[in-house]
Amino acid sequence: MLENKPISLSISNKPTCASKVILIEKKSATTDMGFNPWEVADLNKSAENGSFISVFREEGDTKIVSQIDKLGSKDNFKSKEEVRKAGAQILSEIKKLQIESICLTSALSSDAYLIQLAEGLLLANYQFLTYKSEKKTNSLAKINIVSSTITSKEIEELNEVVTATYFARTFVNEPVITLTAKRFSEEIAKLGKLANFDVKVLNKEEIIKEKMAGLLAVNSGSQDPPTFTIMEYKPKGAKNTQPYVLVGKGVVYDTGGLSLKPTAGSMDTMKSDMAGAAAVAGAIYAIAKNELPIHVIGLIPATDNRPGEMAVTPGDVITYANGKTAEILNTDAEGRLILADALSYASQYKPALVMDFATLTGAQVMAMGIYGAAIMGTASEEEMTNLKKVGFEAFERVHEMPFWEEYGELIKSDIADIKNIGGREGGCITAGKFLEHFVDYPWIHMDIAGPSFYTSNDGYRLKGGTGFGVRLIYDFLKSKI
Ligand code: BES
Ligand code: ZN
Ligand code: ZN
Repeated sequence: MLENKPISLSISNKPTCASKVILIEKKSATTDMGFNPWEVADLNKSAENGSFISVFREEGDTKIVSQIDKLGSKDNFKSKEEVRKAGAQILSEIKKLQIESICLTSALSSDAYLIQLAEGLLLANYQFLTYKSEKKTNSLAKINIVSSTITSKEIEELNEVVTATYFARTFVNEPVITLTAKRFSEEIAKLGKLANFDVKVLNKEEIIKEKMAGLLAVNSGSQDPPTFTIMEYKPKGAKNTQPYVLVGKGVVYDTGGLSLKPTAGSMDTMKSDMAGAAAVAGAIYAIAKNELPIHVIGLIPATDNRPGEMAVTPGDVITYANGKTAEILNTDAEGRLILADALSYASQYKPALVMDFATLTGAQVMAMGIYGAAIMGTASEEEMTNLKKVGFEAFERVHEMPFWEEYGELIKSDIADIKNIGGREGGCITAGKFLEHFVDYPWIHMDIAGPSFYTSNDGYRLKGGTGFGVRLIYDFLKSKI
């Protein structure tokens, strides 16, 4: 298995460690730095709203590490995010002091924020050390949450969701020399064994039989065969009769193909072009591991995109299984070509909803930067609104793009039904319009090109793969039960 080391997370009624992080009311914390934090914690049980500070204490030495202003009600998404960020800040202090084990407690009337505090700490504690000859692992190995209201089930759930995010990050961080399409499918099969969901992998012959013209065209310049991975989690008590289908773009490396990308700031980060697939695999792992009563299917078309001898050329026309023809005018617009196969394939499941996740366009990054994903599609307004709401809560935010008919005009081809580029204007949307030709069910397309990969640290979202989408998908599907 690819290296993945989540830390031990537990829950108890009593503090058992020398180092503690406390969510506490500002007023009390600032009066006297020599207090016994546990007494103060008791005294402040009634505190609910206002300004709070998180206090960090290593043996006798009390230190204010992070100040949070106006922590609102526990349902306030901004406050949740502030606490996650505080967790990341506290982690940097923990690293400096080489602390191995820490207790988290709350002096507020509700302990609910401890979940986000642990979440921030855990997400910030991720490391990718596979290719470091000297492995300097972070000191923190144990978090103990001290609470009588949080259940061990909630803690277990958090731990698995974070573990799933770690998996997704590691998949993205792993270079293509290791993570070929075949290896990726094998790693997903291992996740299936760990979390008890089915994984079936179609090989190249089977992909030919299924007439997956997009996947075969994109793969034609590669030395490595494509794969099409099908995950299924169908628990006995599933609440949905029609499944939710998640599709993830699995381009394990995007050179652009014959429409070759420049290196700096472009091709150099393209090991991340399977972040959509990583998010789908991670989310299904978390759903299965936590035994959510949801029937969910994951589809991952995977290949690298290379300019090899037999590579598909600009000007080629391909014919999809549903009869639609597409003119390929730029081989770097490969994501939509392979997603089309998966979206066609999804139809056989009679899905309640299909969502696809893809690092699809530079235009999404230009429009929104790294702070969120673009959504569009044919699902109801209610679905879209709910997704946006869940996105704010998890702070994996999404913004809905217009999806007007006119954008579809831009991808009409002279010689085929559609073409795979629509010009510079509205590039994120025309990519979505291409995909729309292959759906006959409620559908949401999510372009995660910006938020899936960071080139510098930002709180608990670290340089490299961010795992964007795992927590969002998990929370969104959970909200349906
Ligand atoms: N994988 C890229 C999109 C991308 C860009 C992801 C930046 C992450 C960061 C995609 O395959 C691509 O190259 N798209 C082209 C499409 C264009 C040729 C129509 C793009 O956006 O430039
Ligand atoms: Zn591309
Ligand atoms: Zn791509």
